[in-house]
Amino acid sequence: MDTRVRHTRNNDDPSIAAAGAVDQDRLWRRHMEMAKIGAIPSNGVNRQALTKEDIAARRLLIAWAEACGFSIGIDAIGNIFIRRQGRNPNAAPVLTGSHMDSQPSGGRFDGIYGVLAGLEALEALNQVGAVTERPIDVVAWTNEEGGRFSPGAMGSMVFTESRRLEDCLSIADSQGVLFADALAEVLAATPKAEKRPFNFPVAAYIEAHIEQGPMLESEGLQIGVVTAIQGSRWFEVEVFGESAHAGTTPLKARRDALQEALAAISALNRLMDDPTDTVRFTVGRIDVAPNSPNSVAERASFTIDFRHPEGPVLTDLGNDIESTCRRAATRCEVEVREVFHRQPCVFDPTVLGTIEAAAAALGLPAMRMPSGAFHDAMFMNEVCPAGMIFVPCEKGISHNPAENASPGDLAAGTRVLALTLFRLANS
Ligand code: GLV
Ligand code: MN
Ligand code: MN
Repeated sequence: MDTRVRHTRNNDDPSIAAAGAVDQDRLWRRHMEMAKIGAIPSNGVNRQALTKEDIAARRLLIAWAEACGFSIGIDAIGNIFIRRQGRNPNAAPVLTGSHMDSQPSGGRFDGIYGVLAGLEALEALNQVGAVTERPIDVVAWTNEEGGRFSPGAMGSMVFTESRRLEDCLSIADSQGVLFADALAEVLAATPKAEKRPFNFPVAAYIEAHIEQGPMLESEGLQIGVVTAIQGSRWFEVEVFGESAHAGTTPLKARRDALQEALAAISALNRLMDDPTDTVRFTVGRIDVAPNSPNSVAERASFTIDFRHPEGPVLTDLGNDIESTCRRAATRCEVEVREVFHRQPCVFDPTVLGTIEAAAAALGLPAMRMPSGAFHDAMFMNEVCPAGMIFVPCEKGISHNPAENASPGDLAAGTRVLALTLFRLANS
């Protein structure tokens, strides 16, 4: 739906005027420019964290922001902060943003939308000369996806001091590249940005994102007000067997790490079986060594992404993962490491009310909804009042090159964001 005309009325109120100044075409053009960086077939994007594509995206974002006169900051994990100054430069800023990294086979909107919507909102505020008491920062968080360096949400976790930077530095990607080395390249690529500390005081945080599910589209709505994010736990399981000749070694004499890993995965599927279909259980990566057709596997490792909206279920089922793997893999050693654990988060009622009121003021019907995906907002929610705005994505498809969203819906969410930011930055 095109919302360009409907909201350019009422220029007396600077915040409504700013929402009206959101430029749908500019916002869309920027998405398409960004989508060229790391473009893959079928309209997809492979712009994983701390790659040369990530660096190119950061450079482009900074160029756009500097052209608007905004100042650029960066912290020690590479989170970028684009500041529109407030009347009181010492006041805690309102933050908005998301991430620019993508899945290896990702889409053009997951994450980058929240960053570009934030920049567009700041430009719209500039355009109508709106003054805010507090500064507003657009943040681009480092490594939200976790596809290259596990786990995800690393930038926001470290910023909010939920995890120490030092504990991330020795994490390696599948090629053996250390997070520390990849990060050093990213930091070297933005030498002029002002250094920002972790966990500086923030008045409020708002993240705009595509829904990544089908609800808004099926309800025919443009705006979702996100009430909560389900909890997530990530594990890495390693099964140690013994390499042997595929042609000569009797099955009974084998310690086959791959077969034992498959037995563990089957047992986990039974553990996670849920007639209500609320549990989310995913084994997304399996690595085998020596990975040869005629050698019995000496090592097999796999990842687990387990999510649930209820904290106690997340705790209890998650705590059964290790013993389930051990019981299933009887002939091999099993090591289970938990690499991420986040209990469900519930967003701030005042922020939700501000988003809802902004949508209503712009004539955009909205619905409250939970998020199945996790977002940097769940860590920011620990340190300041936080909330999220969802816009529809086609058929709910995400983490897939076919991910799609309409220019009008992206602009509608950005208008709600601009108005929400203005109000929060004046409160
Ligand atoms: C974020 O990308 C998630 O996995 O929910
Ligand atoms: Mn995302
Ligand atoms: Mn994602």
